[in-house]
Amino acid sequence: MTAGIDWNPSLAELPFSPIRKYFNTAAAMEDVVHLSIGQPDFPTPSHIVEAHVQALREGKTRYELDAGLPRLREAVAGWYNLRYGIELGPDNVLITTGCCQAMFMALTAAVKPGMEVIVVEPVFILVHIIRMAGAIPRPLVTTAGEGYQLDPQAVIDAINDRTCAIMLNSPGNPTGAIYPEETVRAISEAAAERGLALISDEVYECLILDDVEYASALTCSPALDHVIVASSVSKTYSMAGLRLGWAISSAGNIVDLQRYHMFISTTENTASQWAVVAALEGDQSCVDEMVRQYRRRRDRIVELVDQAPALTGYTPGGAFFIMPFLPEGADGFEVAMRLLREARVCTIPGGAFGRSCNNALRISFATSMDQIEKAFERMIPWLEKQSF
Ligand SMILES: Cc1ncc(COP(=O)(O)O)c(C=O)c1O
Repeated sequence: MTAGIDWNPSLAELPFSPIRKYFNTAAAMEDVVHLSIGQPDFPTPSHIVEAHVQALREGKTRYELDAGLPRLREAVAGWYNLRYGIELGPDNVLITTGCCQAMFMALTAAVKPGMEVIVVEPVFILVHIIRMAGAIPRPLVTTAGEGYQLDPQAVIDAINDRTCAIMLNSPGNPTGAIYPEETVRAISEAAAERGLALISDEVYECLILDDVEYASALTCSPALDHVIVASSVSKTYSMAGLRLGWAISSAGNIVDLQRYHMFISTTENTASQWAVVAALEGDQSCVDEMVRQYRRRRDRIVELVDQAPALTGYTPGGAFFIMPFLPEGADGFEVAMRLLREARVCTIPGGAFGRSCNNALRISFATSMDQIEKAFERMIPWLEKQSF
């Protein structure tokens, strides 16, 4: 027997996802209600599917240009310009394999070994890429009691000589929190003044559940030189499996990232890129309808969390997650496992998103209202029996 491959040490920085343990346990059980899934449950709108199929039929199966299909780079820029009244051009856009790849590229290209990146906890698992790149995440903790809002001054105060970047995610996974314009603007200006990269994961930018203006780093930043916004069509158009997204930045930064992209995936799925053109330029009422459904579910789930003993909730403003807290000292990993085994409801333990939220559960409402009701019919009596 050999000792196996002596991997690059950066691989050791990547944890096994604790989430897998819950999925694997659930997969071996029957009649589990999932409040765990982080992807839209709606079918991909038919005009997008048709465009994808048509692209394949027309033989759009060859390599595309490395920065992306020119028609798509134009469509992405046009979509943002319409949405935010800004003036992006195609050269501000790099097409990637979903938001994940855009974040991977940003986090590995803009951080330096030994330097620090300010991140906001609870934080989505992409944070581990920072350690993989040799840098150190510096978490700023936000809490359910404050609706997981971020004090921009706390971010500014946390900046030190070793800080090289700030990572934001609004609306956030796992909290659904949306930062107001003052917050994003203050952080962006501080980053620009100090020459720090602002890496903003805006994959839920269209899933805004209240009547508020969404504050993107694109509209809150004095210039794009220090900003990389990552997003995709996965959530907005319910097409996560088509794996298309983008990075937005200054034209100069995009040229540098394009060079990097050449060595990762080189170019993205050509037929999927045509499907995304159809998504961005087609009728947007499908997005409005999905958001309307998420809003109804959010309103109901906030009521149900309020009724559930031992859960402290709040009202998430975006995405399709809520992360209520359990009483102090409760172990979310254990509670989520027992909830799964004993009540057959699958949630995700808060500890998957940072130590500070170990006594929380992430609940996804990317599932039907019936499933949400059924889950709480099981959870509430189960929680009533617990003594935390
Ligand atoms: C915060 C966040 N960023 C990025 C992603 C990945 O998005 P994509 O499917 O576009 O790669 C997810 C998916 O769950 C997410 O929640």
